[in-house]
Amino acid sequence: MSRTYEVRTYGCQMNVHDSERLAGSLEAAGYVRAAGGAVPDVMVYNTCAVRENADNRLYGNLGHVASVKAANPGMQIAVGGCLAQKDRAQIVRRAPHVDVVFGTHNVGSLPALLERARLEQEAQIEILESLEVFPSTLPARRESAYAAWVAISVGCNNTCTFCIVPSLRGTERDRRPGEILAEIEALVADGVIEVTLLGQNVNSYGVEFGDRYAFAKLLRACGTIEGLERVRFTSPHPAHFTDDVISAMAETPSVMPALHMPLQSGSDSILRAMRRSYRAERYLGIIERVRAAIPDAAITTDIIVGFPGETEADFAATLEVMTQAQFASAFTFKYSQRPGTPAAELPRQVPAAVVGERYARLVQLQDSISWEQAKPLVGREVEVLVAVGEGRKDAATERMSGRGRDNRLVHFSPNPAAAPPRPGDVVIAEITHAAPHHLIADARVSPPRRTPGGDAWAATQPPAATAGSGRAGVWLGLPRVGAAD
Ligand code: 5AD
Ligand code: SF4
Repeated sequence: MSRTYEVRTYGCQMNVHDSERLAGSLEAAGYVRAAGGAVPDVMVYNTCAVRENADNRLYGNLGHVASVKAANPGMQIAVGGCLAQKDRAQIVRRAPHVDVVFGTHNVGSLPALLERARLEQEAQIEILESLEVFPSTLPARRESAYAAWVAISVGCNNTCTFCIVPSLRGTERDRRPGEILAEIEALVADGVIEVTLLGQNVNSYGVEFGDRYAFAKLLRACGTIEGLERVRFTSPHPAHFTDDVISAMAETPSVMPALHMPLQSGSDSILRAMRRSYRAERYLGIIERVRAAIPDAAITTDIIVGFPGETEADFAATLEVMTQAQFASAFTFKYSQRPGTPAAELPRQVPAAVVGERYARLVQLQDSISWEQAKPLVGREVEVLVAVGEGRKDAATERMSGRGRDNRLVHFSPNPAAAPPRPGDVVIAEITHAAPHHLIADARVSPPRRTPGGDAWAATQPPAATAGSGRAGVWLGLPRVGAAD
């Protein structure tokens, strides 16, 4: 019988993308996905190291799985991703029952490492210093039939002083546009109607082959792919955000009116200390130009509170920029000291109580802005791409969920006179209620427009399930690294 596997993913979309390759590589080597709830023969943790609590969570999980492994002889445990790249052999010292540790640069080696660990009866630790092959070239087992992640670059050439990513993912490597477009065309041929272009810093895409305008060109090229309905991207960096990208967004109908652009702080002196080379004024200028060109755009951001040296005045500047920017939503983080990053060595770390108090004020302000931003949508018609399992309360409320073009989460009551939409199909829904973090549409929802995405989803279902609505599944959509934790 084939050995079974399970992959648990932490952190950002790049990790979700890499996990699809981990699963694909394991399946190419003959493993099959473990049934939900069953103990797998191979448990893989794809980890994140961006904040300290991500670290703690992994070691907590590894502690828990030790007893599961003890009760299931032959089970193997593998740890990959950013935290593995950071902690390396230390993982096996802290959790001796781990069989394989692999990094961000050798996602494809997992099956070979598992095999070697089994034959040699010894933990295998393999971390590479730089990327050998783009994970995109590995076989993938995609989680969604209708939406896909496409990596355009990996790594980051910035040196934000709080961030551990550059030390774990290396310097930026760009994929060639032709290769990216060929991947998207193949995805569309498989029924995918939405892609999210991924990079640690999408605006600098092209540095490696010397084209500053490569990202805008790529967006426009995506716009020519027939059948591709929605193009998203994450994340841009305000320092490198050029106006050609705004024009490409505005002039390419399939590029969605949503922009996630990390602010991090509204204080110029903190931005300087973070080594982020833009200033609040430039950031607000970009937003102004985006709003002028794309009036319906929902702009979202990441903000860190309590960076070392942050004074009350610095924090007030962040609140001020938030008020001016009118973000649709924000992912807010308490500063987390990451050993090895320059900011971890700075004096004047902000006491936890002060950070907590500022954090509460930040969230309160953003919630009220999010709500104000959402209220005008009541009465408007929104195009919703129906998703799998995005609404926790859908079963109780008999609603389904999906994302608007601006990436807002919409819970809607399907049109009772029509067959229920399938995940991947599209409905037009009139918004009846707005909340800070979601919209509701309980009346006047169109019959579904059946899409190749819905067909592709249906093809993955056992026959009985295809008529009905989605099963609980993976989360889809934009930022999640963010969920305040
Ligand atoms: N502490 C807190 N938040 C961080 N982020 C990155 N590093 C840290 C850190 N050390 C946040 C940033 C980034 C998001 C992905 O995570 O806001 O945009
Ligand atoms: Fe980290 Fe800054 Fe690069 Fe983002 S841009 S990955 S925050 S170094």
